[in-house]
Amino acid sequence: MIDAAGRVIDYMRISITDRCNLRCRYCMPDGITQVSMAEILTYEEIRKVCILAAELGIQKIKITGGEPLVRKGCADLIGMIKNISGITQVTMTTNGVLLQDNLEALKKAGLDGINISLDTLDREKYQELTGTDACETVRQAVAAAAESGIRTKVNTVLQSDGDKTEWKALITLAESLPVDVRFIELMPIGYGKENTGVSNLELLDEIRKVYPDIRKDSKIHGNGPAVYYQIPGFTGGIGFISAMHGKFCKNCNRIRLTSTGDLKPCLCYGDTYPLKDLLRNGTEEEIRKQIKRAIEQKPAAHCFEEPGAITEAHQMAQIGG
Ligand code: 5AD
Ligand code: SF4
Repeated sequence: MIDAAGRVIDYMRISITDRCNLRCRYCMPDGITQVSMAEILTYEEIRKVCILAAELGIQKIKITGGEPLVRKGCADLIGMIKNISGITQVTMTTNGVLLQDNLEALKKAGLDGINISLDTLDREKYQELTGTDACETVRQAVAAAAESGIRTKVNTVLQSDGDKTEWKALITLAESLPVDVRFIELMPIGYGKENTGVSNLELLDEIRKVYPDIRKDSKIHGNGPAVYYQIPGFTGGIGFISAMHGKFCKNCNRIRLTSTGDLKPCLCYGDTYPLKDLLRNGTEEEIRKQIKRAIEQKPAAHCFEEPGAITEAHQMAQIGG
């Protein structure tokens, strides 16, 4: 479908749980109020949304959380969505802690891509940032995912009070492995408001000092707003998702479905288009209409630069990033 701003909306991110096995400082440091299973969509309900959304032009699905792998049967859901006519690609975002145990099932289910969140390669800092001693587990999961043949990316959110050199170790993952390492600017959503991120403009300047040959890469690497660079000799690319310093809303192609069944047209605003009641008590036509409404009324741009205008009150783990 085409939205009011003329953008083709062909991508839906689906949060399948707001629970997580980590406690990232800028996301859910104390664990958020967890909703009961009855309030979250069943896999059958999610499949139904995907079928109707595919009829309206959604082709690509990203499974997110919280942490999607803490919900039982995640790989089965991926298989179910892969079988829907019109869906060409199913990918997932994970913190990687449970990935190795699930990799085979995910591969069998036909998963097309994995984004692994990893903000530091320093064991102590990882523990400080996430509340868990799992840095090595996740590092191994990155290598295993890359080896499995599933397209693998690493997502990094840097903090301004870090030692500012985290990136040096992180980008070496792209040197030795066929993975893209992407730096995501911290967005002022939920606890993100209480932390300060790093500007990608400044980061790129820093990277250039060490790698003066870094070059912009015009190849398309994915569905999203990342701008990619290539460093000679590196296997993977370096991506920048500059939510704060590179407004990419003109090219936004996505809507989001929360675990409780609310469609969210834009990360910045609290407006939702609830589907759960319609899925449980309504008709397919009503559901289709609601999806159409969410797409048609998608805001033209976010307002992160104007904190007072942000109306989203949920945490990122409830929305799915
Ligand atoms: N800003 C940017 N990225 C965030 N994430 C969680 N909270 C924020 C925020 N406020 C990221 C996680 C993970 C992805 C799902 O979303 O680091 O990579
Ligand atoms: Fe969990 Fe991801 Fe939030 Fe960290 S950022 S607490 S891994 S949902």
